Amino acid sequence: MILAIETSCDDTCAAVVEPDGRRALSNVVHTQTEHARYGGVVPEVASRAHLERMDGVIEKALADAGLGLDDVTGVAVTVRPGLIGALLVGVSAAKGLAYARGLPLIPVDHLEGHVAAAYLTEPDLEPPFVALIASGGHTALYAVDAAGMSLLGETLDDAAGEALDKGARMLGLGFPGGPEISKTAERGDATRHDFPVGLKNRDNLDFSFSGLKTSLLYKLKALDEEGVRRELPHLAAAYELAVVEALSRKLLRAAEAHRASTVVVAGGVAANRLLRRTLEEECGLRGLRLVIPSPELCTDNAAMIGAAAPLSEAVPFPDYLGLNARSV
Ligand code: KG4
Ligand code: ZN
Repeated sequence: MILAIETSCDDTCAAVVEPDGRRALSNVVHTQTEHARYGGVVPEVASRAHLERMDGVIEKALADAGLGLDDVTGVAVTVRPGLIGALLVGVSAAKGLAYARGLPLIPVDHLEGHVAAAYLTEPDLEPPFVALIASGGHTALYAVDAAGMSLLGETLDDAAGEALDKGARMLGLGFPGGPEISKTAERGDATRHDFPVGLKNRDNLDFSFSGLKTSLLYKLKALDEEGVRRELPHLAAAYELAVVEALSRKLLRAAEAHRASTVVVAGGVAANRLLRRTLEEECGLRGLRLVIPSPELCTDNAAMIGAAAPLSEAVPFPDYLGLNARSV
């Protein structure tokens, strides 16, 4: 069994995954609530919180799986990209455990992990496919084949999740902003406001969300307090729709350009209900197979890191002692 560890941002995560990376026996996520009052992740606070929680989260992952350390045959861990101090906590824990038990260490790329969550969702899935990763730190399209992932396009400025988090902040909503905007948007009419969809008509596979943010800023400036209160759900709905449109448009364009029959959507923003509904419809119309992991496998977790382990090169005991976490 693979013990997987993920600490690249503000979630302390551990999971037990079968060696082929297709089934998780446990998946423990401790979400750090310390950051909410700052409206964003504070790196130093994240490192400290990981340190406090790491051991307990690993113990729970083993207990939930009904296993002990004796059953673990390899330790997988996120080594990049992410906050360097946060990564360091997970990598140190993984190295310590692997060394003490004489096990191999499997360094995993966080983005490959997000995509690998699809293998837990549909264990019969095989490349090739086109994948969209939309998270708080990344928004990019990849062509995935047996040899790995190649970048097709990415955001030129903010990530989709970042745009939602910043938008939510401007609207006076909580953090993380994606789920907050989504909840507020339920009561809104998305057609009451018009937001720009970045690079909509450009014949490329890149994204841009900075114009959307600026547009919200100007709309808010033009409203008085009462106006903001009245328009809040409508603004949230139109803002969410603009993000969803940008993501689905470029994903479908990538699928067409690469003649893909399967598309995978991953990362925290893939938990968004409107995006999921929109893509189900659009992919249905085009006869595309759509794989979106369940919401808890879309946001950061360690099961996805275990799922990516068979795709990553294991470092045999004890060659990893000099291995370090790498930042973005
Ligand atoms: O993948 P993730 O958990 O962490 C990163 O690697 O960044 O993604 C976090 C991002 C945040 O920006 C958050 O606002 C967004 O995912 N998010 C959502 C939803 N749940 C999380 N965005 C839209 N709708 C959601 N339901
Ligand atoms: Zn992530």
